[in-house]
Amino acid sequence: MKVYADHAATTPMRERAKAAMIECLEGYGNPSSIHTAGRLAAMKLESARKEVAELLNCRPAEIYFTSGGTEADNWAIRAARYGAGRVVTSAFEHHAVLHTLEAMEREGTRKITRINPEPDGILDPEKVAAEADGTTNLVSVMAANNEIGALQPIAEISRAIKKSSRSLMVFHTDAVQAVGHVPVDVQKMGVDMLSLSAHKFGGPRGVGALYCRSGVTLDPFLFGGGQERGRRPGTENTAAIVAMAVAMREACENMTTAAEYTRRLRDKLVDRILEIPGANINGSMNNRLPGNINCRFDGVEGEAVVIMLDLAGVCVSAGSACTSGSGEPSHVLTAMGQTRRDAYGAIRITLAETNTEAEVEYIADQLAAIVKDLRRK
Ligand SMILES: Cc1ncc(COP(=O)(O)O)c(C=O)c1O
Repeated sequence: MKVYADHAATTPMRERAKAAMIECLEGYGNPSSIHTAGRLAAMKLESARKEVAELLNCRPAEIYFTSGGTEADNWAIRAARYGAGRVVTSAFEHHAVLHTLEAMEREGTRKITRINPEPDGILDPEKVAAEADGTTNLVSVMAANNEIGALQPIAEISRAIKKSSRSLMVFHTDAVQAVGHVPVDVQKMGVDMLSLSAHKFGGPRGVGALYCRSGVTLDPFLFGGGQERGRRPGTENTAAIVAMAVAMREACENMTTAAEYTRRLRDKLVDRILEIPGANINGSMNNRLPGNINCRFDGVEGEAVVIMLDLAGVCVSAGSACTSGSGEPSHVLTAMGQTRRDAYGAIRITLAETNTEAEVEYIADQLAAIVKDLRRK
């Protein structure tokens, strides 16, 4: 049996998004051209922008299309004009945020404060607010963690930091894992900037968006033509952007049913995993993305399990796709207080509404046999 259970790494494209992309690829206008073909492409682009804005509850002029989540994170962190103060973030952000901040620290342009989450993987808003003092210009906290699926209290953090500090402070959230899976509303969350990526909700890889509240000055990150109101030059990837909007609409409209189904499947698999001796679940089971399982088995290396599962036809990951292969244990799990040894044991299984009960049973059977086998070696 072949089972794909690595949806946090990337998702298969939704059929409607694929069809919209193909239709768009068959056209060839450049949205900046003033002739009919160009105007048609520009109309498609603007209608995608309207769609994305509506789904996030903001204005179309507050949406900038990017090449994905990494670019949106880099841009938000480097180019929002918020002065040269301190940045407060969590220690378990995605590397698109953490490594950008590290680079700025090396360049001497920013001082960074990193806050560890509680052992269940959730940040305490009061701890963030306590650090976000008068010298802080940017707070960046992810909406959902990519390894353990922990949902962060973004609205509470926003209220806490805005109560305790100056209004000049910009609040950015990396919502790459959240959009399309849990409700995301920039007004309710109280964020000034938000990053998203299409390939995490059934859109194509290599396209995303940055929401930037009007009033926050966003300097360009790249220089060139006048696209995206002069802030993000480069001929737009119209087909991918259109497909992203279609995928986002479908994911948001089906969210409740998809989440209920996926959560039920996930909980069934968690129950089966916990029947395996020495099994542990990493992170809170309460505030978690519906399809996420992050677990470890005492005395067993996560990467070995991933390889054996792959041989059995099951795709999962050890830690996150970005850290696997790096040789380092997950920075997320160590920030939660786990030992390096325990963190090496982590495997991440991420389900979606396209998975079935039979697939979950298969994963559980394979896992039980593999763990037993590895312990014997
Ligand atoms: C939380 C988070 N942020 C950012 C990214 C980077 O997004 P992209 O792959 O679109 O560059 C990812 C991708 O795994 C992610 O999970």
